Amino acid sequence: MTARDYLSELFSLDGRVALVTGGSSGIGRAIAGALARAGASVVIVARREKELAATVDELTADGCRAAWVSADLSTREGVRAGAEAAAAVFGEPDILVNCAGINLRPPMNDLDDGVWDSTMAVNLEAPYLLGQRFGPGMAERGFGRIIHVTSQQAHRAFVSSGAYGVSKGGLESLARSQAEAWSPYGVTCNTLVPGFVLTPLNARLQDDHEKVAELAARTMLGRNGLPEDFEGAAVFLASRASAYVTGHSLFVDGGFSVH
Ligand SMILES: NC(=O)c1ccc[n+]([C@@H]2O[C@H](COP(=O)([O-])OP(=O)(O)OC[C@H]3O[C@@H](n4cnc5c(N)ncnc54)[C@H](OP(=O)(O)O)[C@@H]3O)[C@@H](O)[C@H]2O)c1
Repeated sequence: MTARDYLSELFSLDGRVALVTGGSSGIGRAIAGALARAGASVVIVARREKELAATVDELTADGCRAAWVSADLSTREGVRAGAEAAAAVFGEPDILVNCAGINLRPPMNDLDDGVWDSTMAVNLEAPYLLGQRFGPGMAERGFGRIIHVTSQQAHRAFVSSGAYGVSKGGLESLARSQAEAWSPYGVTCNTLVPGFVLTPLNARLQDDHEKVAELAARTMLGRNGLPEDFEGAAVFLASRASAYVTGHSLFVDGGFSVH
């Protein structure tokens, strides 16, 4: 067996269908690209059409199979419509990546019902609803990979964790509940835990150069994360190689969480 065949047996996503929410920006865009380049047919779901189309154009120009669906994951109807539209493109997904997320960051005293509701809807309820829609089918077919993108703030409070940290803590628990339910049927459910990653999500925070340097210094590698840091971990968790890894939180954070 050649090294190429061996690696392909472990990691190739040929023939798999993946749905990546938030696949048009930042970490989700890098993950969608990684899964597509590893062979999966990838549907990305987010709201803004221009960003969605640009991502898909880049992937198809690279010879990948990719498509987009515009959906608002902050409402139950939006999630349901988006899920059906996404599944209609390449068929029912084998891999579900819940990466869409918002972080509104009001200090605790200013946290109102609107921020609480929208944070929970996008960060926690949409992943739950998509899991309910696709998890049982994956279990029935005997293979599935559910990957949630959570946060350090699921594990510790910093930079006004507020509702965001709560939603991500719930998402970590959701992964464990899903793992308990569906792992016996070949569906693994795990989370990727970023540290501080330079993406549009925290553009405002990035203006505070001192804070950015301080966060970099908290890692062991001495730098903040980049979207491409998630590519290898995502392919691993989506592939056959991770068949015995479930209910796990994989910190892709340069050592931030253990420093
Ligand atoms: N960057 C970090 O430091 C960091 C750290 C820890 C965890 N994370 C997590 O990593 C994930 C990705 O974050 P990122 O930094 O890559 O952020 P990003 O660049 O802002 O990307 C967020 C994505 O989510 C989509 N999205 C947001 N609200 C949506 C809605 N209502 N309906 C559908 N799609 C929606 C956005 O597209 P549209 O706006 O077009 O809808 C976009 O594609 C998030 O879950 C975030 O919480 C990030």
